[in-house]
Amino acid sequence: MDKKRIALITGGMGGLGETITTKMHVAGYRVAVTYSPSNKTSGEWVAQMKSKGYDVKAFACDVGDYDSCKACVEQVRKEKGEIDILVNNAGITKDMTFRKMDKASWDAVIRTNLDSVFNMTKHVYDGMMERSWGRIINVSSVNGSKGAFGQTNYAAAKSGMHGFTKSLALESARKGVTVNTISPGYIGTKMVTAIPKDVLDSKILPQIPTGRLGKPEEVAGLIIYLCSEEAAFVTGANIAINGGQHMQ
Ligand code: CAA
Repeated sequence: MDKKRIALITGGMGGLGETITTKMHVAGYRVAVTYSPSNKTSGEWVAQMKSKGYDVKAFACDVGDYDSCKACVEQVRKEKGEIDILVNNAGITKDMTFRKMDKASWDAVIRTNLDSVFNMTKHVYDGMMERSWGRIINVSSVNGSKGAFGQTNYAAAKSGMHGFTKSLALESARKGVTVNTISPGYIGTKMVTAIPKDVLDSKILPQIPTGRLGKPEEVAGLIIYLCSEEAAFVTGANIAINGGQHMQ
């Protein structure tokens, strides 16, 4: 890497996000993360990171809100510099069968998991195109590819993310800006361990040929590859990382 590139990771304090953040820091990137304005422990988190040797800046941002994203990106630019890499990682679940799904649960998931991709990308994209280098990585899910019981909202958002990836990758390819989706399967984070144990043990684990949950480090490794110079020819891809649970 000729200079230390700057990466912005949404939801960078979360289960998967924190590992992506620390691994990217170790790989030599300058890292900024966003966190939800409702998170009251961000100061503690930054201090904890610092005590472990990770120099990470954190910015409050409601990724579902366009103006909040605009303000956040401006702030990151002012404090750290131009953003070379955007990892759209922030996401939530509100799992319930469609019969029980209310409009609020649908809207919340689409807003945080899909609107966020537009809201964040919009404010970093022009700069990447002007500088002729950029990496946009959208963290989708195996369930966006195969569907999941209780996840009409989540699967719709995660699947929509990949349509966005493919279209933007066409527009940005000639300018050295790659846009990719990664689709992790069930990774050992809070989001997955919150699934009722009987459902996880009887309905989900048996579908995973490796017989185990994935590790956040395994997903972070894939993201670091996609950020590298060697990955310049990978664009518009949807890379599965799911222990063989769903093969495309
Ligand atoms: N497959 C088939 N049937 C299932 C099922 C499944 N995965 N899960 C529940 N059911 C069945 C139950 O056995 C039950 O059947 P009976 O009525 O015949 O006994 C019925 O569905 C229950 O239906 P309800 O509407 O009452 O459902 P519920 O309120 O008990 O819970 C649920 C439904 C919230 C969807 C619950 O099953 C659940 O949490 N499932 C896990 C969903 C999931 O995989 N989420 C992924 C989270 S992690 C993530 O999203 C990260 C990522 O990207 C991979």
